[in-house]
Amino acid sequence: MSLGKIAIFDSGVGGLTVAEQVQQSLPGADIIYFGDTKYVPYGARPSEEVVSLIERICRYLVHEGAAVLVMACNTSSALAYESVCSWSPVPVIGIIEAAAKAAVRLSPAGRIGVISNALTASSGAYERAVRRYDAQAAVYPQGCPKLVPLAEQGIVSGPQAEAALREYIDPLLAHNIDTLVFGCTHYPFFRKTITRMYGSQLTLIDPALFVAEELRSLGWQDAKSAEGERVYRVSGDPAQFAQVAESLLGHAIGSVEKALD
Ligand code: DGL
Repeated sequence: MSLGKIAIFDSGVGGLTVAEQVQQSLPGADIIYFGDTKYVPYGARPSEEVVSLIERICRYLVHEGAAVLVMACNTSSALAYESVCSWSPVPVIGIIEAAAKAAVRLSPAGRIGVISNALTASSGAYERAVRRYDAQAAVYPQGCPKLVPLAEQGIVSGPQAEAALREYIDPLLAHNIDTLVFGCTHYPFFRKTITRMYGSQLTLIDPALFVAEELRSLGWQDAKSAEGERVYRVSGDPAQFAQVAESLLGHAIGSVEKALD
């Protein structure tokens, strides 16, 4: 069953990790993806500016006919979930709550590291969400300002990526974390490198996995008879977005148009 267009947005290519999961689970769904590439990285901007960028994107996507807004962006979920819910005529899905719940369920000893951009880390959103499910859990947030710019250039492995990951993840290991949450949708692109560097010592939590479940709970179901329509829009350079997206995803994404610049 299709209930209408699923709108998924992020500052850049990161939300594609969410869009991919949604496409796999709901192949017949029509999806409009928006990447705010003119303003990426959000993590380096003041929170008021990021909130107004997010509000602008959500209004645009509702105007474009979105039947649901998926904040494929932890920063948006941390800073603007409540405010967008307060006016949106369509349901809004954030990704922090489900990830926090999964981290509590899957963490062997309740020692949870969260890597994210600086804004999400300083918002305290993950600590609050995790403690709603387990008041005793130890949560260690780690801001990682170098990772989004690397992912936006398609650099998710090799010496530069490894050095940045070591800088951010080693201090968390010093706290004996057993679970690592990708608190930024760009970071699942580093999964292979992280697994190669840290082996199986960490349980990795990717919030993207839970978005399809949320959509199902709102009534979306698999419709395998036909592939849904995919539309990609960005506020920055469409060609640059397409090139990086295709190299990270390993497949073509079709045409990308400019909007909201
Ligand atoms: N990928 C987004 C997130 O999950 C935004 C990252 C950024 O632009 O700093 O928070």
